[in-house]
Amino acid sequence: MAKFPENFLWGASSSSAQIEGGYDEGGRGLSIWDVKPLNKGTCSFHYASDFYHHYKEDIALMAEMGFKAYRMSISWSRILPKGEGEINKEGIAFYKDVFKECHKYGIEPVVTIFHFDLPLALEEKYGSWRDRRMMDAYVNYCKVLFENFKDDVNYWLTYNEQNMLIFFGAVDMMGGTFKRNDLNDLYNQAHIQIVVQAKAIHLCHEMCPHAKIGPAPNITTAYPKTCDPKDQIAAYNMDDLRNNFYLDPLVFGTYPKSVNTYFENHHIKLEIEDGDMELLRSCHPDFIGFNCYGNDTVEVLDFYEMDYGIFEGADNRDLSYLKALMDKPGVGKSVENDKFPKGEDGHSFDPYCIRVTARRLSDRYHLPLIITENGYGRADTLEDDGTIHDSYRIEHLKETIKQMKLGIEEGADIFGYCPWSAVDLVSTREGITKRYGFIYVDRDEDDEKAKTAEMKRYRKDSFYWYKKVISSNGEDL
Ligand code: BG6
Repeated sequence: MAKFPENFLWGASSSSAQIEGGYDEGGRGLSIWDVKPLNKGTCSFHYASDFYHHYKEDIALMAEMGFKAYRMSISWSRILPKGEGEINKEGIAFYKDVFKECHKYGIEPVVTIFHFDLPLALEEKYGSWRDRRMMDAYVNYCKVLFENFKDDVNYWLTYNEQNMLIFFGAVDMMGGTFKRNDLNDLYNQAHIQIVVQAKAIHLCHEMCPHAKIGPAPNITTAYPKTCDPKDQIAAYNMDDLRNNFYLDPLVFGTYPKSVNTYFENHHIKLEIEDGDMELLRSCHPDFIGFNCYGNDTVEVLDFYEMDYGIFEGADNRDLSYLKALMDKPGVGKSVENDKFPKGEDGHSFDPYCIRVTARRLSDRYHLPLIITENGYGRADTLEDDGTIHDSYRIEHLKETIKQMKLGIEEGADIFGYCPWSAVDLVSTREGITKRYGFIYVDRDEDDEKAKTAEMKRYRKDSFYWYKKVISSNGEDL
C-alpha cells in the first residue's frame, strides 16, 4: 500500500501580487500588475487579500490546518522599489517577520523569487527580458534575498511558470514588448530567462550552502488523442516544446533536439552567447518544483503558416484564446479528453495529472519533486452562518491526492504538495470571484470597498478536510 513519506511537506501556495495587497504601503514600488491587471473582474491587485496586514492571522490558520510548508513569493518591488538600486528596509523587515511567523509554527517557507510581478521600473527601463541587463537586475535581486534571508529560507524557487509565459506567448504578464508574431524574440527571451535561473542556482549554492533551490515551471504531460503513432509523436514533441525545453538545459545543460524542426519552420534562432551553455552545464538544481492543474491531450497538427493576425484584438484573458495558443503548427493541437471524470458540479478534471507527470519527471531527471500548484478555482458561497460548503474542491483534491499516492508507490520521488491556494486570492484572469483557497476571504470584486474592507477570514469545509488529510499524513482522505 502506498504511503506518503515521513516529513512530507503538506502545505499550500500563493503569490505576492495575488495575495498581498498593500501595493502602495511600506515603501513598495509599483509592479507591472499594479498598472495593467490581467483579470476580467473589476478588482485590481492593489488590495488583493490584504495578506500584508493579515499575515499573522493567515499563518496561524495555516498552522491550525497543520501545514508543514507554505509556498509563497516575494514581491520584487517591495524589496527593490525600482527593481534595482536602493533596498527597501521595510520590505526586508516585512518578509523577515512573515518567515518568523512560519517558523514559529514549524512551517517551512518555500519561496518563489519571481512570480510574474515584475517591477514596473524595470519594464520601463529595459523593455523586456531580451535586454541582457535584465539578467544583472535579477541576479542582483537574488543576491539581496540570499544575503538577507539565508537564515530564514531553506527552499527557493527561481521563477514561476517561466515556460507558460513563453509557450502562451501572447499573455503579457512578464513585462516586455513581445510582438505576437515574433516567436524569435520570445524564444530568445526564454533562453535569457533560463540562463538567469542557472545563475540564481549557482549563486544560491554559493551564498546559502544549506539551502535547496529549483525551478517552478508548469509541467503537464501530453496524452496522445488516439493510438495513431503520429499522435504519440505529437505528444512527445509537445512535451519537448512545452516542458523539456525549460528543464533539460537546467538539468542536463542541453536543449531537446526535437524542437529544432519547430524552430526552423518558425524562423527561431537562439542567440547563445559565450559562457551560456557552460553556465547551464555546471548548474545543478536540487529539486524540481512544478505546477500541475491537469495534463493536456494532443493530436498531430501539420505545419502551416500560422496567421497571428487572428489573435489581434482577442481578449488574452479568455480561456478559449489561451487554448488556441496551445496549438503548435508542425507539432500538435490541444483537444478535449473525454476520458477525464466529471466532478459533482459537472466540470471535467484530470486526477491523474500529478501521478503521470511526476513519474515522467522522476524517470527523466532523477531529482526530487515538489508540487508547487494544483487545485480547483471557482466561485464559493459564504453562508449566513459563516460556513462555506466546497465539496467540489474536496472531491477534486481528494481524487488527485489518491493518484499522487499511487505515483509515489510507483517510484515518483515527491517530497511535498502545495496546492493553489492557502487563502483565497485574486485569480490572474478572473478576479476574486474565482476562488481556490482553504480559507475564505470576505471581499468581492469591488476595489473601492476592498480598500477599507475588514476582509474577514472564514474556514471552508475543505479547511477541515485538509487538516485531517495532513494529520493522517494522507491516509484519511
Ligand atoms: C498558475 C499561476 O498558472 O495558475 C498562478 O502560477 C495562477 O499565479 C494559477 O493564479 C491559477 O490560474 P488563474 O488564472 O485562475 O489565476
